[in-house]
Amino acid sequence: MNIRDQFPILGTTVYDRPLVYLDNAATTQKPQCVIDTLCNYYTSLNSNIHRGTHHLASLATERYEEVRRKVASFINAASSDEIVFTRGTTEAINLVAFSFAERFLSEGDEVIVSAMEHHSNLVPWQMACLRKKATLRFIPFSDEGVLDLEALRSLFSDRTRLVALNHVSNTLGTVNPISEVVSMAHSHGVPVLVDGAQAVAHLPIDVQALGCDFYCFSGHKMYAPMGVGVMYGRRDLLDQLPPYQGGGEMIKDVKLEGTTYNDLPFRFEAGTPSVGDVLGLGAAIDFMLSLGIENIAAHEQQIMNYVVQQLSAIDSIRFFGTAPHRTGVVSFLIGDAHPYDTATLLDKLGIAVRSGHHCTQPIMDRYGIPGTVRASFATYTSFEEIDALATALKRIAPMLL
Ligand code: ALA
Repeated sequence: MNIRDQFPILGTTVYDRPLVYLDNAATTQKPQCVIDTLCNYYTSLNSNIHRGTHHLASLATERYEEVRRKVASFINAASSDEIVFTRGTTEAINLVAFSFAERFLSEGDEVIVSAMEHHSNLVPWQMACLRKKATLRFIPFSDEGVLDLEALRSLFSDRTRLVALNHVSNTLGTVNPISEVVSMAHSHGVPVLVDGAQAVAHLPIDVQALGCDFYCFSGHKMYAPMGVGVMYGRRDLLDQLPPYQGGGEMIKDVKLEGTTYNDLPFRFEAGTPSVGDVLGLGAAIDFMLSLGIENIAAHEQQIMNYVVQQLSAIDSIRFFGTAPHRTGVVSFLIGDAHPYDTATLLDKLGIAVRSGHHCTQPIMDRYGIPGTVRASFATYTSFEEIDALATALKRIAPMLL
């Protein structure tokens, strides 16, 4: 079956025009197999997990834990105990920022983040540093959107406690050299957290090969439902972190006077999780594996090259993010036109893109612009959609300038 036919929404229209969906970095659409998994869960399996002994509860628990093992194998974690389900990347990073800071950050310590982070991998560290009176340091990047690793080298000190950076920039598309950053950080005894939100749908992920200590991502950017994400953490580090939230299931034994916490990974999963969404994540992983991650990556690379080639023909286009190794997104402006105006006109032609600062205001400050227009891709993005974007931009550019 054609990939696009597996996504019901891709056959719909917007303002009587075929939908051209180029906002995949915000969220991907869902294939029928993921929608069916959700529907089947609520039709015939809905039950709370880890708590009941009845048939449905045992079955739901079994299916939920099966997805944990599937995720571990998908990113090549050493053990499924290192996979913690969260609501998304944001919650995953907040979890680490809180628990890591509680255990390892003190006054005068330092945390390094890149200057191209999504707010969700910046603000939690600002909050942690504020709470612990620690200092945040920033890895700068070039005009092309490439991290300055020499500058990073000089940022380490004997007070550095953690490096946090994205695998792929949601605004610039840069694929960051995680292994190099990890070996540099580890040579100083410093762990590394990777925000993989914009990478998992586009690149094969092997956390052991990358060598990172934490890897966080969302299901909804990789064809799974909203409401589920993953925090991978190396067992020896997770073992040392205090829980993030207190509640049911994260405990071993509770007395009025105090509590013994549960083992990994349950210690970090307080409360009823979004079981149906986790099962949907399992279906999304099966979907991606059935296509082959290498095939997905190769198609998207061709799409990326085609977009750059087609859009370069538009007078007055300015690209933001021209690093040699990029994936997933192309950010641009038409002259000095405001990105909202460009996106609004594209929308009227049935083309969905994101415009604005993309939750990366420091990147916009770096370039001195209010925002960009961002077209972002998925495995179902077609060359015809890119043609539609290029044709529309050629048509609207004179109105914007
Ligand atoms: N983080 C998502 C984006 O970049 C929402 O659009």
